[in-house]
Amino acid sequence: MVAIIVLLTSATAQKKINPGEVWPDDKGNHIQAHGGGIVKIDKYYYWYGEQRRQGLDTGLRYVSCYRSKDLASWQFMGDALQLSDPEHLGSNWVLERPKVYFNRKTKTYVMYFHLDDARYKLARVGVATSNKPEGPFTYRESFRPLEKESRDIGQFIDDDGTAYLVFESWPTKGFFIARLSDDYLKVEKEVCLINAPLEGGAIVHYKGLYYAIGSALTGWNPNPNKYATAKSLEGPWSEFKDIAPPETNTYSSQSTMMLKVEGTKDTTVIFMADQWKPKTQWDSRYLWMPLQTGDGKLWLPEPKPWSIDIKTGKVQF
Ligand code: GAL
Repeated sequence: MVAIIVLLTSATAQKKINPGEVWPDDKGNHIQAHGGGIVKIDKYYYWYGEQRRQGLDTGLRYVSCYRSKDLASWQFMGDALQLSDPEHLGSNWVLERPKVYFNRKTKTYVMYFHLDDARYKLARVGVATSNKPEGPFTYRESFRPLEKESRDIGQFIDDDGTAYLVFESWPTKGFFIARLSDDYLKVEKEVCLINAPLEGGAIVHYKGLYYAIGSALTGWNPNPNKYATAKSLEGPWSEFKDIAPPETNTYSSQSTMMLKVEGTKDTTVIFMADQWKPKTQWDSRYLWMPLQTGDGKLWLPEPKPWSIDIKTGKVQF
């Protein structure tokens, strides 16, 4: 009898995700995976992001790696990338918004990140690879994808497994969706330019429709993030609309990714965003919330604690 009760309680009590709160990892430290992305490989979700803890070597830039089976409890796997200025960019050089793809053919983990100088004039992606998810990743090179300026990057893997890089382009005002090469080491083909002055681009494919989210260009300050839809990645894309009441500035957050969890009962799309604290970046928070999505509409409900059952895909508040 006792065993049954224990089983029942553990089945119903999923660990909560608390948007905007300190999010302790397995060692009790606030998770450092800012501007991050998530990739699921077999039974684990891997979360990579900007490592911004206090006391780091200021000459280096770091990408952290965490893993989880339930999206709520995260184990710190260490700093997957530790990089010294790879292109003589000078002090305050920038490595932001890392994203990792796993190439099943080459069994290689391929990391992309925004690489820049202090004035954001270089506008390139950097590429690093590893044969293990937790790294160490080795720097390979940097380039401008499709010869275009590239700043904020986003990651999108379609249901058929095709991998895309989303990158923000200032001169053309918008973000490109570009297909990666077979080995993921190059950005091969322009699929679309979403022609709206947005960054922090995120895409999800949900029930036959593509949804794209982006934020306005206000640096670390939050703004009303917007979404558009299209039947095909090539477009045409609809007008952009608010994802939340505009006066909340997306509940003080900026988009970084949408993560789709396909369970046995429900498919849930999670909005992953950063609540930046530019002066104390190590304390920047995460706003993760299940989106209300469907029939061409997308809405970010007011943040509150929630949990997800990864098996069924069901969300509870
Ligand atoms: C934001 C961007 C961040 C970071 C910041 C610097 O617009 O999304 O990743 O680059 O500007 O001001």
